[in-house]
Amino acid sequence: MKTIDKSEEVKKNSKEDQTETQKETSDKDQKETRKENPERGNTEAQKETRKEARDKKKSAGSPSGDSSEAGQEALIRFENVGKIYRTGQIVYEALHNVNLTIMEGELVVILGPSGAGKSTLLNLLGGLDGATSGKIYFGGEDITSFDDNRLGKFRAVDVGIVFQFYNLVPTLTAIENVDLMQDLGVKIMDPLKALEMVGLADRKDNFPSQMSGGQQQRISIARAIAKMPRLLLCDEPTGALDTNTGKEVLQILQDQSRVHHKTVVMVTHNALFADIADKVVMVKNGTVVEVIENENPLSAEDLNW
Ligand SMILES: Nc1ncnc2c1ncn2[C@@H]1O[C@H](COP(=O)(O)OP(=O)(O)OP(=O)(O)O)[C@@H](O)[C@H]1O
Ligand SMILES: [Mg+2]
Repeated sequence: MKTIDKSEEVKKNSKEDQTETQKETSDKDQKETRKENPERGNTEAQKETRKEARDKKKSAGSPSGDSSEAGQEALIRFENVGKIYRTGQIVYEALHNVNLTIMEGELVVILGPSGAGKSTLLNLLGGLDGATSGKIYFGGEDITSFDDNRLGKFRAVDVGIVFQFYNLVPTLTAIENVDLMQDLGVKIMDPLKALEMVGLADRKDNFPSQMSGGQQQRISIARAIAKMPRLLLCDEPTGALDTNTGKEVLQILQDQSRVHHKTVVMVTHNALFADIADKVVMVKNGTVVEVIENENPLSAEDLNW
């Protein structure tokens, strides 16, 4: 494990740096995306932007420039979390004694075999289901103590979710699918801007059936990020996609962490994705068996997949 420097000065500098980077990079990204190929997001300028954001994140981490978690704050903390499902007479312990810390802005990949408890963990992270025991802290607040109303607000405001099969409304266009959140009373950014962020502003009037799987997944990411949540949860987001399309989706998710400083937690069966994560959480038989910190995560576009 790396040393965590909690000095206030480092935290402050890191935040200022991040705001600057965010402004610079989103302007640059948007211009390049429009000028070159809006579909790919892999222009030289964009690669450079990602590299700058990554280097800046690293140097903000430590005054000496080594990669560490200094300057970042814990967004999520699991303390001895357990989850038991009861169906009639059947009792199943899906998670037991899970301890886990996720830092603000981190890209976390949760890996493990089928039935290990990955989706259960993700559901607890997003307040979609309650823990049977233990505590879950989000930004210092114990969400296991929230009543239904407070938990509903937490889910609506702080959590964006991307599913394997997109979950778009087939009778609504791309922009209407993004705007849907607003209809549900959640404050969101301009839906067109959200579509621009995933390189699909020009497809705003297309229905889901008129788009490829990768494009539909990007619309669902636009919908999740439009409300500017602090936490983006993704359950097998590339599970239904081919390699190239999957990489594009991974790149967008990685940029949410690197460029836009969102905390992104992704569940997958694909062990290769460990290479792009800041932190890899290995789950087996309902418990976290290993947490690996990646000093130098790969850029999704360079993933050997
Ligand atoms: N609502 C539920 N009621 C009863 N058992 C459940 C429920 N949800 C999950 N489980 C059980 O908990 C265990 C963990 O399930 P979970 O969906 O978290 O696994 P997973 O790691 O996401 O698997 P996969 O990779 O196949 O999606 C499984 O044995 C599953 O059958
Ligand atoms: Mg699952």
